[in-house]
Amino acid sequence: MPSNSIAALILAAGKGTRMKSSLPKVMHQVANRTLLGHVIGTAESLNSDRVVVVVGPGMDNVAAEAAPHTTVTQAQQNGTADAVKPARDALTGLGAGTVLILYGDTPFIRPETLQAMLERRADGAGIVVLGFQPDNPGEYGRLIVSEDGGLDAIVEYREANEAQRAVTLCNSGVLAVDLEKLFGWIDQVTNDNAKGEFYLTDIVAIARTEGVIAAVIEADESELLGVNSRADLAGAESYWQRERRSIMMANGVTLIDPETVYFAADTNVAPDVRIGPNVVFGPNVTIERNVEIKAFCHIEGATIGAGAIIGPFARLRPGAVLEQGVHIGNFVEVKNSHIGEGAKANHFTYLGDSTVGAKTNIGAGTITCNYDGFFKHRTIIGANAFIGSNTALVAPVTVGDGAIVGAGSVVTREVSKNALVVARGRQEEREGWAQEFRVEQQTKKDQLSKSKG
Ligand code: UD1
Ligand code: CA
Repeated sequence: MPSNSIAALILAAGKGTRMKSSLPKVMHQVANRTLLGHVIGTAESLNSDRVVVVVGPGMDNVAAEAAPHTTVTQAQQNGTADAVKPARDALTGLGAGTVLILYGDTPFIRPETLQAMLERRADGAGIVVLGFQPDNPGEYGRLIVSEDGGLDAIVEYREANEAQRAVTLCNSGVLAVDLEKLFGWIDQVTNDNAKGEFYLTDIVAIARTEGVIAAVIEADESELLGVNSRADLAGAESYWQRERRSIMMANGVTLIDPETVYFAADTNVAPDVRIGPNVVFGPNVTIERNVEIKAFCHIEGATIGAGAIIGPFARLRPGAVLEQGVHIGNFVEVKNSHIGEGAKANHFTYLGDSTVGAKTNIGAGTITCNYDGFFKHRTIIGANAFIGSNTALVAPVTVGDGAIVGAGSVVTREVSKNALVVARGRQEEREGWAQEFRVEQQTKKDQLSKSKG
């Protein structure tokens, strides 16, 4: 049995009424990841042996988001200590170790901060509390520290006297607690207080009566940013984006105008990628080295190979896989398509459910007609092919390697390797016809106006 297990217990039973939403608060997103997803990600990054999420009744969507981790239900919101109780069974069998108690609506605590709490635990503290000194201490619980620097108690604002309220060191709510002792302490918590709730914070004073050491680790207020309203959510998004832009640049990514680039939590960008202004990333994007993304692109679910040039004004949608050196130009949309090395689609094109071979050139205005109103069909284009401008490829259809399709074609049948296909009305010419037509029409018009006048 491991002697230093780590469990993460994430409290997420609150509905978050101030969000005015049919979604539970922790299901709202920052950087395309739910608040809960951010907290779970942090817990996972610490190699937690177990992650347990406490939800309210009927929060099946939260349980689904937490999967494969365990979810337990708090029947009624009777306070933060009460919220820990339903996790008792889910946290047994881990032996000695630490429970990190986290909050589903506080997504930005750094793993390093939690690591520091775990180290303080290893140094002999039975409880480690994450404290902070907010600009406005407001109604946060206050951390009452003794002369030797140890923590004596957490006093909730409503229960605090004037001297205690004057303390500026506040409780973030986050705790690292001795796993084998937690529930024994929780059982001793009563609801004999101003709110009539079971306060998790009471376990500090209870542990102290047993001679257990309690300690404080301090974090910056920005890490403890919590989300209670839509305005908080927008603030959280801008905080997250600001941090991520700095990390990207520190990792060797050029952002020409950082403030205007929006990443998703999982956007993966290699060094020496250049990203222009006003580029937005949705989930699941990987970009290899030396790619250039020009201004005003929207990119999600895409893999972009080294040296590719994208945009300006390009849209890459889920399933877009671009090999090395691909060029995707302005007003080109690519969805569920594999574009081979060095292939180009530079202007006004839709490539959906397609395969394009290496070095093929897709002319301006080419459309893969992939949908018949019921089903999607694939377009397969070989290598070194040339698709003339304004071609409609009516899928399912195949164009062989090296084939040339004349501009303006509507391609409905297979095009063989190295063939030329022109699938449009043949050009017809009548010499002098236009001039004769003009003379005839003008004569008619003149006669009409004479007879009226
Ligand atoms: C709590 C702390 C306070 C601290 C503050 C930091 C207690 C008693 N007080 O106060 O010292 O300064 O957080 O923000 O812990 N929750 C449940 N079930 C419940 C009650 C709460 O899951 O029955 C969850 C909520 O969804 C929320 C979190 O626990 O995510 C904190 O609860 P909240 O009621 O906001 O605690 P505070 O009164 O703010
Ligand atoms: Ca709160």
